[in-house]
Amino acid sequence: ETERDLVVVSNREPYQHEYDSDGSVVVEEPVGGLTAGLDPVVQKTQGDWVAWGDGDADAVVTDDDDCVAVPPDDERYTLRRVWLEDEEVEGYYYGYSNRVLWPLCHDLVDRVEMEPDYWDTYRSVNESFGEAAVERATENSTVWIQDYHFCLAPKTIRESLPDGASMVQFWHIPWPAWDTFRVVPHAEELVEGLLSNDVVGFHIDRYRDNFLECAAQLDDTRVDRDAGVVHVDGRTVEVGAFEMGVDADRIAETAETFDHHAWAHLAGKYDIDPNINVAVGVDRIDYTKGIPKRIDALEQFWEEHPEWRGELTFVQKSSHSRSQIPAYQRAANEVEEAIERVNDRFGTEDWQPIVHVDDHLSQRELFGLYRHADIALVSPLRDGLNLVAKEYVAAQVEDDGVLLLSEFAGAHQTLDEAVTINPYSPEGFAEAIHQSLSMTAVERGRRMRSLRSVVTEHDLDDWVAELLTATVPDGEEFTVEG
Ligand code: G6P
Repeated sequence: ETERDLVVVSNREPYQHEYDSDGSVVVEEPVGGLTAGLDPVVQKTQGDWVAWGDGDADAVVTDDDDCVAVPPDDERYTLRRVWLEDEEVEGYYYGYSNRVLWPLCHDLVDRVEMEPDYWDTYRSVNESFGEAAVERATENSTVWIQDYHFCLAPKTIRESLPDGASMVQFWHIPWPAWDTFRVVPHAEELVEGLLSNDVVGFHIDRYRDNFLECAAQLDDTRVDRDAGVVHVDGRTVEVGAFEMGVDADRIAETAETFDHHAWAHLAGKYDIDPNINVAVGVDRIDYTKGIPKRIDALEQFWEEHPEWRGELTFVQKSSHSRSQIPAYQRAANEVEEAIERVNDRFGTEDWQPIVHVDDHLSQRELFGLYRHADIALVSPLRDGLNLVAKEYVAAQVEDDGVLLLSEFAGAHQTLDEAVTINPYSPEGFAEAIHQSLSMTAVERGRRMRSLRSVVTEHDLDDWVAELLTATVPDGEEFTVEG
């Protein structure tokens, strides 16, 4: 075992300070997703976290070194904020990260929108983050970079990384084949940047293999596909598949506290009859999530199985981000229109087929919603992993729900007792909804117990330990207990 300090680098910050309507400062935490998932890990290791300070009141509570101790009510680690000008946010975040790399890596080449200054801004912002990370690193540090916002930061960090420190990057979204990735003129530079790490991790084998294929296109690399390593600049970079897990025990414990009474109360707030069947979908509004196609499938289901009208309510819980990008505004409008269409068509006086929850739910409410939902519709067109699928499973404390999962989500690789759907086929999808609702309790229990053991046995701590152990010398183990 070896004691290492963690320095996490991500674009999104785990705690955001905002001004309330009365002028006081409040703290907001994202619920679910990547940052919420990593926060408990960094709390345990008491490390550092470098992220974009985008809250209105962030600057008010940071010290002269741009740092603030978090969580605010139980200080465990240091959040080092990086400040970005509006033009930087435009070019780096809304531009290169989310209009170029995001669609590209999800194989949606037609959605890539390239402006000349995106690249320059992406590069300079990556340098700023790299410098901030180096400031926090010692010879004992493992610098752990998250995601597609930072292909070039490792290069900056490598130049001044203290001896003894190591660097790992986890890529949370898919990595496409070289024929797709080469569409961007900076393809080689991006891959080269990532190869400044000691370890590069992906969720599943296919993304890792695609990345190795891309690395093999560079002039000065030698790729050993079987060993999963790239030799470059006299260094060896390990490239591996490490599927992320969720904090399954905590999710189950929280869901457990959300009893039928709590559920009836929450359902009542949204005019949902707590005693009829509920299907749930939880997504950040994004064109990759396939929400309109999901609603088409539900429409087809109610059309073909009128006996289920009034017997099933679909709850779509949505969150919004990247809304300055027109493609995201269009995605939000499409979802609204599809919901309205189906509600107009089938809704009655005492039954609303689809309930759209746009409000913030607490973690407890979200896990409670998962627990009491009879089926979950996780139907992305393409998704690096999809944490919602795993969270839903973890919250099924009665082992009686059914997960419907797109074959295009990374999580599909291990969640093999889910009901597989192809989101591009509304007929098949509608049929799968019907099958799931008609499944016997025995079959539901068998499938869910098997899924729950997968999610519980390979949880968040296991993922962190596996990934970070790859960064320390042979025979040693990275410990997350701090
Ligand atoms: C995906 C990405 C994350 C990102 C999250 C939310 O899960 O992999 O890096 O933080 O979406 O997106 P946002 O743009 O709001 O940070």
